[in-house]
Amino acid sequence: MYLPTVLVGLSGLLLQPVTAIDVDWTSDSSIKSAASTIAYGLVKYYTGNNTGDVPGNLPDPYYWWEAGAMFGALIDYWAFTGDETYNDITFQALQHQVGDDQDFMPSNQTKSEGNDDQGFWAMAAMTAAEQNFTNPDSDQPQWLALAQAVYNEYVNRWEPDTCGGGMRWQIYTFNNGYNYKNSVSNGCFFNVAARLARYTANDTYGDWANKIFEWEQSVGFINDNYNVLDGAGNAGTDNCSAINAAQFTYNAGLFLYGSAAMYNYTDGSDTWKTRVQGQVESVASIFFQDGVMWEPSCEKTTAKCNTDQQAFKGHLSRWMALTAVLAPFTYDTIMPLLESSAKAAAEQCSGAAGTDFKGVDGTACGFSWLAGSTFDGEYGVGEQLNALQVVMAPLADTATPPYTSDSGGSSVGNANAGASDDDKIEQPRAITTADRAGAGILTALVCGGLVGGMWFVWADGVMG
Ligand SMILES: *[C@@H]1O[C@H](CO)[C@@H](O)[C@H](O)[C@H]1NC(C)=O
Ligand SMILES: *[C@@H]1O[C@H](CO)[C@@H](O)[C@H](O)[C@H]1NC(C)=O
Ligand SMILES: *[C@@H]1O[C@H](CO)[C@@H](O)[C@H](O)[C@H]1NC(C)=O
Ligand SMILES: *[C@@H]1O[C@H](CO)[C@@H](O)[C@H](O)[C@H]1NC(C)=O
Ligand SMILES: *[C@@H]1O[C@H](CO)[C@@H](O)[C@H](O)[C@H]1NC(C)=O
Ligand SMILES: *[C@@H]1O[C@H](CO)[C@@H](O)[C@H](O)[C@H]1NC(C)=O
Repeated sequence: MYLPTVLVGLSGLLLQPVTAIDVDWTSDSSIKSAASTIAYGLVKYYTGNNTGDVPGNLPDPYYWWEAGAMFGALIDYWAFTGDETYNDITFQALQHQVGDDQDFMPSNQTKSEGNDDQGFWAMAAMTAAEQNFTNPDSDQPQWLALAQAVYNEYVNRWEPDTCGGGMRWQIYTFNNGYNYKNSVSNGCFFNVAARLARYTANDTYGDWANKIFEWEQSVGFINDNYNVLDGAGNAGTDNCSAINAAQFTYNAGLFLYGSAAMYNYTDGSDTWKTRVQGQVESVASIFFQDGVMWEPSCEKTTAKCNTDQQAFKGHLSRWMALTAVLAPFTYDTIMPLLESSAKAAAEQCSGAAGTDFKGVDGTACGFSWLAGSTFDGEYGVGEQLNALQVVMAPLADTATPPYTSDSGGSSVGNANAGASDDDKIEQPRAITTADRAGAGILTALVCGGLVGGMWFVWADGVMG
C-alpha cells in the first residue's frame, strides 16, 4: 500500500511510511536483512521455475546473459549472507542451461550467442566452484568443468591474424558485431582464466590471463591510466586502430577482479600489484562521483542506459568487494567507496509495488544512486541486481574468501572439457530481434559521435 504523505503525517507513529530500505550499516544482520529484501524483489521477476517455463531464462526484455549474471550474484548472495532461499532455483537454472556440449551454449541460444553472453554463465559456474556451492550428481556437469569448457573454447577462438590477437565479440561470422573485438569478451576470458589459475594452481591458465591482459594493453583497450575502453571495429581491415573509448563499469570490473585473482595466485607479485593498483585508481576516478558509483557513459545523459547497461554497476560493486578480499592492500580504498555507494543505493530502493514490481511495497530500487532519496522511477532486474550487489558488498569481508581446490573447494574439473564450435551450427540464418542477447553499447552513443567509423556494427541497434 502506498501511503499519501498527508496520511503519513497524521499517523506517522503507527503507520511507518514505507520509504526506502532502512539499514544500520554497523550491523551485519541489518545489512543482510536489507540484501534479502532487495533479493526478494529481484527474484520476483524470475519465472523460470514456474511449471511450463524454462529454467534459467528471465522474461522479456531481459536477455539470457543477464540471467547468468543474476545467478552468479545469487551464489555470492548466499555465500555472503548464509540465506539459502534461492539456492534451488540457482542450481536448477545453471544446470538447465549447460547445453548438449556442457559449455553454456544451449541450442536455444547458440545462434545469437556472443562470447560475453557465454562468459556470464561461465563466471557463475566459476563462482559456484569458488563458493563450494552444492555439487551436481557425478553424472551431471560439474561447476569447475563448465568454466574450463568455456575457457577451452575461448582459447580456440583467440585470433592472432588481426589486431595481434584477442577474441571477437561474436562467435559466428553471420552475427552483427563479428568484426568487433572488445573488452567485455576478452574480459570474460581473462576473468575466467585468472580465477581458474587461482582455483586449480595450473600455470597454463595464469599464462593465458597474462597474455590477454597484455594484449588488451597492446591494442590500447587498456590504456596507460588502466582505463578499460570498450573495443574496436573493423577487426578484419584496420587492425583495431579505431577504438571506441566508451567506458563501462562491468568491463572495468572484469579486469579488476581477474587481476586481483592473479595477484593473489602469484602471492602478491609486483606485476599484478601494479596492475591492480592502477585499476583501482582508474575505477575510483572514472566510476565514482562524490563517493557514489555511476555509469558515466549513459547515466544522467539524455540517451539513458539501455536494459543491458542498467545491470552493469552491480558487477563492478561485487567484483570490487572481492578484489578487497583477494588483494587486501586495496581494502582501504575500495571499502569506503562501496559503503557510500551502498548507502546511496539503499536510499534509492523506495519505489512502490505494482504490476511491474512484485517485491515489498516501497522497496523497488531506482537506477541512479546519485539521485538521492527521491526514487528516480527506473526499476527492473538490472536495478535490483545492482542494488543487491552493492548493498551486500560490505559483507564480503566477513565471508569466507573464495575457495581454491586446496583450501576447501570440492568441484571436480575436466581440463579437456568443451567442444568445437563447428559442430554447433547447422545453417547460418537471419537474426531476429527475439534472438538478440547480450551486453553492449547504446546505439545512441553512436549518434553522439563517439564511434564514427563503426556505424555498421550498431546501425541496426544490435546488442549482441
Ligand atoms: C520459484 O522460486 C521462488 C523463489 O525461491 C519460490 O518462491 C516459488 O515458490 C518457486 N515457484 C515454484 C512454482 O516452485
Ligand atoms: C529451449 O526452448 C524450449 C521451448 O521453449 C524449452 O522447452 C527448452 O527447455 C529450452 N531449452 C533450454 C536449455 O533452455
Ligand atoms: C596490429 O596490431 C597489433 C597489436 O597492436 C600489432 O602488434 C601489429 O604489429 C599490428 N599489425 C599491423 C599490420 O599493423
Ligand atoms: C590472498 O587472499 C587471502 C584471502 O583473503 C588473503 O588472506 C591473502 O593475504 C591474499 N594474498 C595476498 C598476497 O594478499
Ligand atoms: C565443500 O563441499 C563438500 C561437498 O558438499 C563438503 O564435503 C566440504 O566439506 C565443503 N568444504 C567446505 C570447506 O565447507
Ligand atoms: C593445466 O591446464 C591445461 C589447460 O587446460 C591442461 O592442458 C593441462 O593438462 C593442465 N595441467 C595439469 C597438471 O593439470
